[in-house]
Amino acid sequence: MCGIVGYIGNKKAKPILINGLLRLEYRGYDSAGIATIENDKISVIKNKGRVAELDKVPGINDLQGTIGIAHTRWATHGKPSTENSHPHTDMSKQIAVVHNGIIENYSELREFLQKNGYTFYSQTDTEVIPNLIHYYYEKESENDKELKLLKAVHNTCQDLKGSYALEIISSLLPDKMIVVRKDSPLVIGKSATEKYISSDIPAILSYTKDFYLLNDNEYVILSKTNADFYDKDLNKFNKPVENIAWNAAAAEKEGYADFMLKEIFEQPKSIRETIGSRLTQDGTCNIEGLNFTKEYLESLNRIYIVACGTAMHAGLAGKTIIEKYCNVPTEVDIASEFRYRDPLIDEKTLVIFISQSGETADTIAALKLSKAKGAKTLAVSNVIGSSITREADYTIYTHAGPEIAVASTKAYTSQVVLLAILAIYFAKVLENKKYENEIKELSREILELPSKLEEVLKNVKPIKKFAKKVYTEKDMFFLGRGVDYTAALEGSLKLKEISYIHSEAYAAGELKHGPIALIENGVTVIGIMTDKNLVEKTISNVQEVITRGAKTLIISNQDLGDHKFDNVVTIPETNPLISPILSIVPLQLFSYYISKEKGLDVDKPRNLAKSVTVE
Ligand code: F6R
Repeated sequence: MCGIVGYIGNKKAKPILINGLLRLEYRGYDSAGIATIENDKISVIKNKGRVAELDKVPGINDLQGTIGIAHTRWATHGKPSTENSHPHTDMSKQIAVVHNGIIENYSELREFLQKNGYTFYSQTDTEVIPNLIHYYYEKESENDKELKLLKAVHNTCQDLKGSYALEIISSLLPDKMIVVRKDSPLVIGKSATEKYISSDIPAILSYTKDFYLLNDNEYVILSKTNADFYDKDLNKFNKPVENIAWNAAAAEKEGYADFMLKEIFEQPKSIRETIGSRLTQDGTCNIEGLNFTKEYLESLNRIYIVACGTAMHAGLAGKTIIEKYCNVPTEVDIASEFRYRDPLIDEKTLVIFISQSGETADTIAALKLSKAKGAKTLAVSNVIGSSITREADYTIYTHAGPEIAVASTKAYTSQVVLLAILAIYFAKVLENKKYENEIKELSREILELPSKLEEVLKNVKPIKKFAKKVYTEKDMFFLGRGVDYTAALEGSLKLKEISYIHSEAYAAGELKHGPIALIENGVTVIGIMTDKNLVEKTISNVQEVITRGAKTLIISNQDLGDHKFDNVVTIPETNPLISPILSIVPLQLFSYYISKEKGLDVDKPRNLAKSVTVE
């Protein structure tokens, strides 16, 4: 997905912009470009392909400007090409723009501008923006150049339908930059004499920890020393600075071959951060930001958990715990389905949204819909100040640290941990006596998870060995029952994403109802068995596939009795409700090693983006 970087200060902008773009590479892109201003003239350099290639384009090192904008493009309108890359300028080359998002009515605007004498050089939706700014600038009667440009940008935004985060520089106002956002992320990092702008905090985290977190329809005029904020009606206002406690080193590989491997191995630490002081050994549970009352929780007739992809799988694991200890029917929904299916929501519904990035377009739309229907909304996110956290009534953070690899790993385990803690919190507010002892026990087990994860991560060899054996396969199957099925779904998604092997996850009991017809000699089946009450049942399903010639990998913490399986990865025992937090780790590693065996780009799998900010 597209990425934005910007700089305004005393240093040469080009190296800072390129460095920022490199840090955004994980989002996925097909072309990149930068623009700077020098001697009141805009210079644009852009290129199809990687940022490293952009950095070799003749003339790029001659850019001396101390103000600049940069972009990595993920093609939506128009093929990947140099002409379609950002920045785009207006016809007179006085205004340059980079844009994340989609302008839905661009054809109409393009037609309007063409009728007014404007010429277009790309197939993008973005190119209408600098031209429309130019059109309004020319029409504006305001004398002050700064306000004149701001009003032109404001008028332009009134015409745009869709989503946008924009950085705008102009030779008409060569020492300033205007930025604005709507439904697409944008943050501004600040120091006394510099401003760093980005779509993602990690891209600029090495420069500052002080950020302005922009809301929708807020306009900012930036100079190296100032940031002037204007609301949707161009009334000036003050915005507080937020301190982001993330460590810049956390956004580096730190000696690991890939971000994904680093993030897998970080899980004991990230889980510790998620637990923080929310749970204690003596059984207390407090979650900052939440103040639900017993009356409110008792009034609920339904909880929805809404998310996409991995976050949705975390929701499936969380559902079982919340439903059990809170006694409220809890449904998990895919955000892109939920938003279009007129779900049953009223003021007695609590809707929980899970999103690592907090910027997923479908999840945000589902949140807005839920609010409009009168539900209370609770965001579970990893990114401070992200869009869902600003929309939701309540927010709780996973505190997993920046997740850079496209395939989500540590965010998933932190999400499941946080949902388990949320279930305990709800049960305590509800004064649920029935499960008091069980909940105490569950709290203890959660606190033990980081050290158990460390144990899991010591047992990498058998996973690597099995991955070596099967990496050339075309299909694989994941089986599990109960929460093991939710882990199977996530394991299967990881495999698809980074190894490009087709895989399916089945609730083991469903095998006989169709999927077993797919099992033949040599097929690979991964069985997950962490629940004492279900292990015998899953064992018998796995025996059925072995009889039909399948190669198996078993992830278990149960006594497998006399059953002899060829490849078993034993993980520590824990409460089955939270076992996906442990059982998913060998599955993450399995996908990782397969991807490595196949020589693929683990961190940047094809066709995928880290943050899916468009539908
Ligand atoms: C899978 C993956 C995606 C995301 C999904 C939601 O590894 O990363 O399936 O989980 O796109 O993203 P967030 O959590 O940012 O809303």
